[in-house]
Amino acid sequence: MIPYHRARGNVLVEHRGTIVVTGRGGTGKTTFTALMARYLHERGVEPMLLVDSDPDESLAEMLGLDLEAEGKRSIADVLSEILEERKMTRMTGMTPTDKIEPFLFQECLYEGRGFFDFIGVGTKWIEGCYCLPDRSLGQIMEMWSSNYVYVIVDSPAGVEHLNRRITKKVKDVFNILDPSKKSFDNAERSHKIMRDVDIEFENYYLVGGYRFTATLEAEAARQPYRYLGRVESDERIAEFNFQGRSLLELPDGSPAYQSVKRIMVKAGY
Ligand SMILES: Nc1ncnc2c1ncn2[C@@H]1O[C@H](COP(=O)(O)OP(=O)(O)OP(=O)(O)O)[C@@H](O)[C@H]1O
Ligand SMILES: [Mg+2]
Repeated sequence: MIPYHRARGNVLVEHRGTIVVTGRGGTGKTTFTALMARYLHERGVEPMLLVDSDPDESLAEMLGLDLEAEGKRSIADVLSEILEERKMTRMTGMTPTDKIEPFLFQECLYEGRGFFDFIGVGTKWIEGCYCLPDRSLGQIMEMWSSNYVYVIVDSPAGVEHLNRRITKKVKDVFNILDPSKKSFDNAERSHKIMRDVDIEFENYYLVGGYRFTATLEAEAARQPYRYLGRVESDERIAEFNFQGRSLLELPDGSPAYQSVKRIMVKAGY
């Protein structure tokens, strides 16, 4: 695959891999993703592609990004329009992926002025069953990935999204746990599904979410996956979210941010 980046001017980038953040609902996945991106930026990592594959689209907000104002739509919206309007039939002699890619590039990919680019996957696509777009989207993601040092995917709650195999090759998976048995079950299930559907990954990490307890930390450490520590609670996160402020502006001393940094260092970043 030839690395290319139309807007960034074909700068050659050393692509190091895709990071997936997953777990049960409300464990702090999106917050962790935003703070992880902030940490990597602090470490000089640039550019990154942040992928919000959760239909509730909160990652953009936590990063202070208003996609609508930027004129960007979700992949779901654009794909369903392409399929409904059959725009693709006008272009003969091209593969479905080659036909779809320019639309997604133009209408979905937010090319940041800062350290990250962004795409939102959206809702309709999650609801619908489109094998062709799934496959094409996988190929497009692979094509785009080479433009970024890291691609970071914030997942929706649960495990179903894994079956779509949009990302087939992952460097590290971070499963964010809440203080429940179901959270541990989720970790086991998503690990198994990734194996079953042939998603390659190098490391599968457990991270205690902000509601985790010391007792559960001991339990997490007994799991067959490496436990990296707990995200500290910081009430300013709820305040920032409520006010629609970016977590990139959270004070550096925030216990949550400091703990995410420690976790990332343990994971080798
Ligand atoms: N470290 C933290 N300290 C305090 N509150 C937090 C922390 N992390 C997340 N929260 C709060 O928990 C809630 C859920 O966080 P977040 O949206 O990151 O979770 P999620 O796992 O992405 O949720 P969903 O499954 O809905 O996507 C938010 O209201 C947020 O303010
Ligand atoms: Mg989320």
